[in-house]
Amino acid sequence: MEPFDLNSIPSKKGKLAIVTGANTGLGYETALSLAKKDFEVVLACRNMIKAEKAKTSIKAVYPDARLKCLEIDLSKQSTVRTFVKQFFLHYKQLDLLVNNAGIMMTPYEITEDGFEGQLAANYLGHFTLTALLLETLEKTQGSRVVMVSSLSHRRSHIRFDDLHFKKGYKEFAAYAQSKLACLMFAYQLDKKLRSKGYQTKALAAHPGVTLTELIDHFSLFVKFLARIISPLLFSSTEKAALPLLRAALDPKAKGGEYYGPNGFREYQGAPELVDSSAASKDSSAQEKLWEISEDLTQVQFFK
Ligand SMILES: NC(=O)c1ccc[n+]([C@@H]2O[C@H](COP(=O)([O-])OP(=O)(O)OC[C@H]3O[C@@H](n4cnc5c(N)ncnc54)[C@H](OP(=O)(O)O)[C@@H]3O)[C@@H](O)[C@H]2O)c1
Repeated sequence: MEPFDLNSIPSKKGKLAIVTGANTGLGYETALSLAKKDFEVVLACRNMIKAEKAKTSIKAVYPDARLKCLEIDLSKQSTVRTFVKQFFLHYKQLDLLVNNAGIMMTPYEITEDGFEGQLAANYLGHFTLTALLLETLEKTQGSRVVMVSSLSHRRSHIRFDDLHFKKGYKEFAAYAQSKLACLMFAYQLDKKLRSKGYQTKALAAHPGVTLTELIDHFSLFVKFLARIISPLLFSSTEKAALPLLRAALDPKAKGGEYYGPNGFREYQGAPELVDSSAASKDSSAQEKLWEISEDLTQVQFFK
């Protein structure tokens, strides 16, 4: 497939993007590149001090960048709704929604909404956010939703009998399930958008592996090891953001596509179309997950 060249993407002046978790890591790199392309970017973050710092850093590189920090905690459904209300006070369009924010291998938690913590922050928060923004996306010609998944999705299935790990928590299994859910959601959303005749596209991407604050919950030894092997095996965070940017910006990208790095085991490399697990493509599981998610979040996509 043709290589992706971020430099060849024309100016997106007048276009608006939301990037969740934009204050650090892949979200920050994505917001920075979108600002370079003249997008106005909403930095959707849970910590406003960190968000303002990220805004200042982006402004230091692109002084004319149009950036707004808006608070959201994706693990709390109520703040997702408040975020959307705030968003509508300022904006009437939405060209791009990058559902990037995430946590990994956090200690067991049941959120105030009754959801397992990683499923809540990584998937269910973004499910609600997308649902509440869908009509605005649809009114904005050429709009896209990008879900961020992970290689870990391949080692998972959706535990329909115990979605919230009430019968024995495993940090990695919960992370992998949440990332599989993100991917299945992108596929199912795109199918639904097509069948309803909507123009908005849903795509997914994974970054391969890159050293970020995502490993904050790992042991000191693993963090130390990661710092040593990272330059040998993994991408810089700037490069790792390219699959997300390709899904967001490549004019030839189609709804339902999944982008990732093309190198050894997809750890790093140039952003290309990649395959996903059989479980992620299981249509009946996708629909079952969708129905459960609507039920849990009390949002409806196509009213
Ligand atoms: N790094 C990798 O190798 C890798 C591999 C595969 C997939 N991914 C995916 O890439 C995405 C970004 O990860 P990253 O590596 O850039 O991690 P990161 O550096 O830890 O950044 C994660 C971002 O998400 C935010 N966030 C976490 N929980 C949130 C919540 N409840 N509400 C709002 N924002 C929240 C964080 O905010 P705070 O700064 O306030 O914590 C931070 O801005 C994640 O979805 C992750 O699963 C990463």
